[in-house]
Amino acid sequence: MHIDPAVYVRNTIRSVPDWPRPGVTFRDITPVLQDPRSFRVLIDLFVYRYMRQRLDLVAGVDARGFILGSVLAYELNLGFVPVRKKGKLPFRTVAEEYSLEYGNATVEMHTDSVRPGQRVLLIDDLIATGGTMVAASKLLQRLGANVVEAAAIIDLPELGGSQALRETGLDIYTVCS
Ligand code: PRP
Ligand code: ADE
Repeated sequence: MHIDPAVYVRNTIRSVPDWPRPGVTFRDITPVLQDPRSFRVLIDLFVYRYMRQRLDLVAGVDARGFILGSVLAYELNLGFVPVRKKGKLPFRTVAEEYSLEYGNATVEMHTDSVRPGQRVLLIDDLIATGGTMVAASKLLQRLGANVVEAAAIIDLPELGGSQALRETGLDIYTVCS
């Protein structure tokens, strides 16, 4: 491939104006998933970054983080744990409320999904206000995890989320903005 892998992925993302409401430009990753080359390039970028990080688990955020996180966990020979929207997990949970670019929400994790001290990679498709990642990392930390990094495909720096996340002390990696 002659083009930079991150540029190839970025060029495959679709921007949809005024969705889900006027003024929001939605970054749609479904074309990345649909294109086998873009999907592989993307996952390989994460694999090469994290293969020597001695991770114990990958935690993926509902819903698009599940797609990335489960493939990445499989490739890295790690377990996967879901950070789910409220009311979906059947066992005992911990919960955090947050706000995002177009509303409010709550995420939950099973209380036994992480053991204290485990080195966890947190992954989602996109960082906008950072509210989702902050809430997910708080949940992981409440369970005693060591959040090694929070990773996403896309950063929307104009919404300040990645900067706010860094200010909480989290390390952040994004493929493109
Ligand atoms: C989107 C996206 C991130 C979050 C980012 O998910 O997949 O999880 O918003 O926004 P933030 O940085 O402002 O928190 P959404 O809540 O729309 O859920 P979905 O994946 O189920 O569509
Ligand atoms: N989540 C929050 N803001 C988003 C956006 N602009 N595109 C896709 N997902 C989002």
